[in-house]
Amino acid sequence: MEMSKRFYITTAIDYVNGQPHLGHAYEKVLADVIARSRRALGEEVFFLTGLDEHGQKVQQAAQAEGKDPQQYCDELAASWRAFATKLNLTNDDFVRTTEARHKTVVQALLSQLHAAGHFYKAAYTGFYSMKEETFLTEKDRLPDGTFDPSYGEVVELQEENWYFRLKDHRQWLIDYIEANPTFISPNYRRNEVLGFLKNNPLEDLCISRPLARLTWGIPLPFDPNFVTYVWFDALVNYVSIPESRGESATTWPADAHVIGKDILKFHAVYWPIMLKAAGLPLPKQLLVHGWWQKDGAKMSKSTGNVVDPVAVIEEWGVDAFRYYAVRELDIGPDGNWTAAGFQSRYSAELANGLGNLINRSLSMFKRYRNGIVPARHDDLAPDAAKAMRETVSNLREYELQGALQSIWSLVNRANQYVDQTAPFKLAKDPAQAGRLDEVLYNLAETSRVLAVLLLPFLPTTSAKIYAQLGLGSVPAHLDAATWGGLPTGHTIAGPEPLFPRKDPPAQ
Ligand code: MSP
Repeated sequence: MEMSKRFYITTAIDYVNGQPHLGHAYEKVLADVIARSRRALGEEVFFLTGLDEHGQKVQQAAQAEGKDPQQYCDELAASWRAFATKLNLTNDDFVRTTEARHKTVVQALLSQLHAAGHFYKAAYTGFYSMKEETFLTEKDRLPDGTFDPSYGEVVELQEENWYFRLKDHRQWLIDYIEANPTFISPNYRRNEVLGFLKNNPLEDLCISRPLARLTWGIPLPFDPNFVTYVWFDALVNYVSIPESRGESATTWPADAHVIGKDILKFHAVYWPIMLKAAGLPLPKQLLVHGWWQKDGAKMSKSTGNVVDPVAVIEEWGVDAFRYYAVRELDIGPDGNWTAAGFQSRYSAELANGLGNLINRSLSMFKRYRNGIVPARHDDLAPDAAKAMRETVSNLREYELQGALQSIWSLVNRANQYVDQTAPFKLAKDPAQAGRLDEVLYNLAETSRVLAVLLLPFLPTTSAKIYAQLGLGSVPAHLDAATWGGLPTGHTIAGPEPLFPRKDPPAQ
């Protein structure tokens, strides 16, 4: 039996050492829009997200709350899962790296690489910050030779660890990245990785932590005195989950890993080397997004400069959040979240743009024709076909911002059409009844086409538009956006506001 490969998309798995913020939400929404759009293009999809639960950060966060790390993770995992639901994600699985199904695969991979001679044990002497629990290098010294007081007491420490030989991998990886120009996207991130690989020696990777320093990790199967370095453990999630489900053959390699720019080196250097050493194919693409700031400054819990996605969703709705995040920031550059920017897109593009179009189109339809669809007419058919064509090609290229621009060109064209044809004037003149039928058909059919095109981005709004058209559930396939789907004689249900207009908040 021939097994066909499905489209596999992943997100970074988040450290479970606090509550989710805008950065986490943004990445998950990007991946969800891609997953939904591939389904709408007719592909079978596997979409994985989840949590990175081991390592020092999590152990320390648990300790700070006086909790056992597993209990701490279990409690937080519940709220992160609820967060995925709140964002309306269509992930097919949710990985937690403390699950047995993941740990088994990590240990099997470690044993395999160890048996093949990829690891060695060595002693390392260096300066160690007791407070930050990390080794420091010469680069961390201040101009006067001391270490920053934030590191606390710094001592010289000798520690044995296990290392992964990376040196021999440098050249093939450079060749691979050069031969596969789309492997790392956008291109400036690819250049960054190539620059790093070409201009620096590739140091061996320390893949263990001694139990004396860290207990919260996966034990090394070949040396009980160590746990696995958290990044080696975490990266493996991308293969452990398909494997534990018995679905590797139809799933791996991933089509896209969606990640932030700060974790590029782990995904573009260490992960390909781990896979190559294990004899596994490399993922097809790394889609590297930028970082959000708020009001031009780094987001930080300690200064309170944060965007709480849950609060935004509660006030404005999940689709408004998804829309702004994807429309404002293309995959690549850094972005800046401001309340004013959010409100201005909400009011111009969602409330006055899309919302007003659907509302006035369906209201007139109800009022003038009792909601009954007249004969097909094609004034806006070329505009709808163009929007559909551009949306499909943008979605194929992961140009999500571009797809929204294509869709909004149809929204704007249709709003302009209302102003130009002035159906409220036509309605006053019985001689214009035929023309009014034509205009109303064009507006209702454009509303339907928009609902189909919007499904990957604004699933709730899309479903509402279909319901208001009296059409049941939104078709899963983008082909349904082809002009002429609204049947003559069908009765629409009628409009409900999609994006209520809001007064600006009191200062
Ligand atoms: N646990 C690792 C990832 C392991 S993947 C095998 C990790 N976790 S994280 O919680 O710190 O970050 C998760 C993702 O959120 C990363 O891709 C990171 O880039 C992204 N973001 C965190 N803050 C962000 C912003 N301010 N803006 C956009 N994304 C950011 O790293």
